[in-house]
Amino acid sequence: MKFLIFLGTVRDSTPPRPARLGLRVAKSCLSYLQSTYSDHQFELVDPLDYPLEPVFKPQFVYAKGKAPELLNTLAEKIAAANGYVMVSPEYNHSMSPALANLLNHFASSSFAYKPSAIVTYSAGQWGGMRAAIGMRTFLAELGCLSVSAMIHISKAQDVFKEDGSNIIAEEESAWMNYYSRTFNQLMWWASATNQYKNEVKPNDMIGNFKSSPSQRNAP
Ligand SMILES: Cc1cc2nc3c(=O)[nH]c(=O)nc-3n(C[C@H](O)[C@H](O)[C@H](O)COP(=O)(O)O)c2cc1C
Repeated sequence: MKFLIFLGTVRDSTPPRPARLGLRVAKSCLSYLQSTYSDHQFELVDPLDYPLEPVFKPQFVYAKGKAPELLNTLAEKIAAANGYVMVSPEYNHSMSPALANLLNHFASSSFAYKPSAIVTYSAGQWGGMRAAIGMRTFLAELGCLSVSAMIHISKAQDVFKEDGSNIIAEEESAWMNYYSRTFNQLMWWASATNQYKNEVKPNDMIGNFKSSPSQRNAP
């Protein structure tokens, strides 16, 4: 199976902390996933590699094939993935606006019926808990429901080096144990949805909105 790890930060300045703390969190997740589930493929999606237009124009509103190449490339990767890991900092008690903006560029149908895992972090003591709660709602609306376990990393600058390895090497196994609950849940759900999709195609059973979003309204 294929998984995308979305990184939420585009901040490239300091203070208050080393720039892009999130990069080390994402690298730590990537390293864990690659070594633990070596039969599967994992790719880091860095929003800085996908510069967006100042005027918001999602990939799905362009005529077929006319969207910028980078948007089409990422849309294909999202559609081909079996699950997602969303790594976000907490900014003003909310998820990263850069991550929300990047995800808003793609049709929810390309994320739907696949699971996601929420990973949040902060330089302070709460580990992005408040951002994580909002992310559940956001990801549910995309259709990539988040697994129940989440990963929260407080004071991430004291936990990981820039390459994603643990600053205190003796703590590594405790961190891996912590990761395992969330990521094992992700793998179970990804495997389950992937297999069941071959049996029952979601759109055959549920159907898409054919003409108007009002088709979802109560009578
Ligand atoms: C605009 C802004 C708002 C922030 N709000 C919070 C917050 O609500 N809670 C928190 O724990 N840290 C907050 N922080 C501190 C971040 O945890 C810290 O800057 C962290 O390094 C951000 O991750 P990044 O470096 O990957 O962007 C905020 C930082 C910025 C720049």
